[in-house]
Amino acid sequence: AMTRDVLIVGGGTVGLSIGFELVRRGTPVTLFEKETAGRGTSYQAAGMLAPDAEIEFEERELYDFNRESLRRWPDFADRVEAASGQSVDYRDEGTLIVADDRDAAEALERLYEFQRDQGLDVEWLTGAEARDVEPFVAPSLAAAVYAPSDHQVDNRRLVGALRTAFKAEGGTLHEETPVEAVVPDEDVPAVRTAGGDRVGGTRVVVAAGVWSRELDGLTPDATPPVRPVKGQSLQLRSKRPFDLQHVIRGPEAYLAPKSDGRIVMGATSEEMGFDTTVTAGGLYDLLEGGWEVVPGIRDLPVDETWAGLRPASRDHAPLLGRSAAPGVLMATGHYRHGILLTPITAEEMARLIRTGETSDWLRPFSPRRFSDAKSPTRSA
Ligand code: FAD
Ligand code: GLY
Repeated sequence: AMTRDVLIVGGGTVGLSIGFELVRRGTPVTLFEKETAGRGTSYQAAGMLAPDAEIEFEERELYDFNRESLRRWPDFADRVEAASGQSVDYRDEGTLIVADDRDAAEALERLYEFQRDQGLDVEWLTGAEARDVEPFVAPSLAAAVYAPSDHQVDNRRLVGALRTAFKAEGGTLHEETPVEAVVPDEDVPAVRTAGGDRVGGTRVVVAAGVWSRELDGLTPDATPPVRPVKGQSLQLRSKRPFDLQHVIRGPEAYLAPKSDGRIVMGATSEEMGFDTTVTAGGLYDLLEGGWEVVPGIRDLPVDETWAGLRPASRDHAPLLGRSAAPGVLMATGHYRHGILLTPITAEEMARLIRTGETSDWLRPFSPRRFSDAKSPTRSA
């Protein structure tokens, strides 16, 4: 079959949101999802929109990209909510980064100084001041940094709303339809499904998260160098009088309270390939780390445990734009920030696909930076 559609492989937050931004501007899209859309890594995340708290992991270029995406989040949330009729639970209470002992306080002070040097809007608090902001943190806290600009959404609601919004705007969604291979071509690139269908379109976008490098049909220089980084997590159910309002980040675990009473606690960071086993040691570390900073979790029911796979590239920055394969674009490698980076990824990729022009925002994240002799580094 041949369509006039943009073909997207993968229905996570990245694929669905690019599809949404295209169809609502009148560009037809067919999206292929191997299982149910929105049940991959995007479902397993914590939903934090946290450029400031996580700046220590990033280079300045990625920090600026993260920040710009956060700036676009409120408008994007409004659009998705209007198109889907569903809430994504955008919350702007801010994040408390907390230290539970002297060593942790020293490490936190170094982070705080770095954040201040970079011009971030963060505030140093004593343990007592931290309790004024959030009464459920431990009385024994040594210190905290308040990051009011870091926000959060409910990532499970987000992918549900995006799936509805994409279809409501006229997108075609094929679930339970794995794509086996991509067939590059400048004029009519195509995908071949596991069922043996070959579908041609105007462009192919690979948004298959951590599975992006498993697709056949791409030469080594066009294959995205993305590997899985395992993150074990668990979910608590809030129970009165316990009523946490802020994202809390301790040295060993974070807690992200959602408005429906879910509290997501994460996450380990493990190089274990595609293994998604939940281990006693992983849960133990998270529970101990969470309990040390928010002792009231002790009495809460545990709802769920899981392990998600972060799609990490070699430099931990995303791959966004034209690949070395004709007609094939990449939107993958979002690692720790795929929920945060959803608006900027969707808007800038949709612009590139519609106009053929790569914006200044996308240029540093070219998928060809790993293979192209003319741009051997990210800054080139
Ligand atoms: P996915 O959601 O995995 O979507 C890819 C989709 O492609 C899947 O649905 C899959 O089934 C489908 N697919 C794969 N192969 C094929 C194929 N051959 N054919 C058809 N379909 C295919 N980010 C944040 O911004 N904030 C956070 O707080 C945060 N916390 C996290 C916590 C954990 C524990 C983890 C693991 C990640 C976290 N992240 C967070 C990162 C974020 O979850 C990811 O960066 C993001 O979800 C990646 O989105 P995606 O659409 O690329 O991948
Ligand atoms: N950004 C949170 C995580 O990756 O665990």
